[in-house]
Amino acid sequence: NKGHYEHYMQKEIHEQPESLTTTMRGRLSRGGSSKLKTVLLGGLKDHLKTIRRSRRIVFIGCGTSYNAALASRPILEELTGIPVTMEIASDLLDRQGPIYREDTAVFVSQSGETADTLLALQYALDNGALCVGITNTVGSAIARNTHCGVHINAGAEIGVASTKAYTSQIVVMAMLALAIGGDTISNQARREAIIDGLLDLPNKVREVLKQDQEMKDLAKLLMSEQSLLVFGRGFNYATALEGALKVKEVALTHSEGILAGEMKHGPLALVDENLPIIVLATRDACFSKQQSVIQQLHARKGRLIVMCSKGDAALVSTGESCRVIEVPLVEDCLQPVINIIPLQLLAYHLTVLKGLNVDQPRNLAKSVTTQ
Ligand code: UD1
Ligand code: BG6
Repeated sequence: NKGHYEHYMQKEIHEQPESLTTTMRGRLSRGGSSKLKTVLLGGLKDHLKTIRRSRRIVFIGCGTSYNAALASRPILEELTGIPVTMEIASDLLDRQGPIYREDTAVFVSQSGETADTLLALQYALDNGALCVGITNTVGSAIARNTHCGVHINAGAEIGVASTKAYTSQIVVMAMLALAIGGDTISNQARREAIIDGLLDLPNKVREVLKQDQEMKDLAKLLMSEQSLLVFGRGFNYATALEGALKVKEVALTHSEGILAGEMKHGPLALVDENLPIIVLATRDACFSKQQSVIQQLHARKGRLIVMCSKGDAALVSTGESCRVIEVPLVEDCLQPVINIIPLQLLAYHLTVLKGLNVDQPRNLAKSVTTQ
């Protein structure tokens, strides 16, 4: 049921304040009399000790689910101190990469049925790793076959392009980082800021969704482009990959997410006055580096669209031709949840303007159950 929306993708983008609220329901508390803020993931509580002792956490997934894991990697490393590595499920299988008993393997999948992810799960079970699922579908193969896990509770997702599941996956993995990470005096303020940030996130998402019309206007401008680049780094490298994936999978426009730190090692050669480039430059520890990326792209006459934090337009704009998207500032590790939303809206509007099928892009399936 699409309600008053025209498409499922549109509905699922706009219902993110509610889906995120459901994802967090019963799992976070502002703290009672003790004033301590806590995270409770019921599915993991008996396994946290084992996870904390593991030598490595390996994230395994495909498509958008892989990108969500990538977005969560920095905070997991920061709060747990455990090395986190990333695996695209098919690539792990192709290489028969090493997985050990001392590993915690985390399988991220909206459907819980993706063939490659499921086969990688079987492979990790055979190799003796503790296997954790992050799934949206209760009773799915991945939910059933993992040792433990967390349901993201985002509600059924119908649009082939994943939107609300992505943001709920990131929120679950931020809670996972808090749950695994030790509650030490030194990181208490950081933990509390993240929990407060999580509780306020649905409001911030509501705020950024108001940019729907602005994104439609931007889509009109970009409608006949052949290609689009998205530059990000740090917490928002994943946002660049996921934003580009949305544009290519539904709007059928070639698009590439680029790690800004790699700019000089190839991508800079593509820059001219025609190719549109989105630069993600919201406030975090990488902000000044992104300002310098903007300057270097501008020096090569790049056609820039910059996403920045509210109030920073003057710090990132390179002049009249530069378009700026201002988004609400949240805790750095949660910023990917905010920053992907204008890009989801952009992909949606580009697709509708081009008269393409937004809920079922050509050649793609919601759940890829064959290899
Ligand atoms: C559970 C109930 C929820 C109830 C809550 C009350 C279910 C599905 N969830 O939620 O309805 O409101 O208790 O305390 O009945 N699991 C995996 N792999 C996965 C995902 C989950 O093994 O990929 C396992 C978990 O380890 C857990 C169970 O499935 O044993 C349910 O997980 P989850 O729904 O996340 O647990 P709760 O949030 O505690
Ligand atoms: C398909 C979907 O390619 O599978 C994507 O179209 C999704 O939206 C990917 O990200 C992985 O699916 P899942 O269910 O394992 O998260």
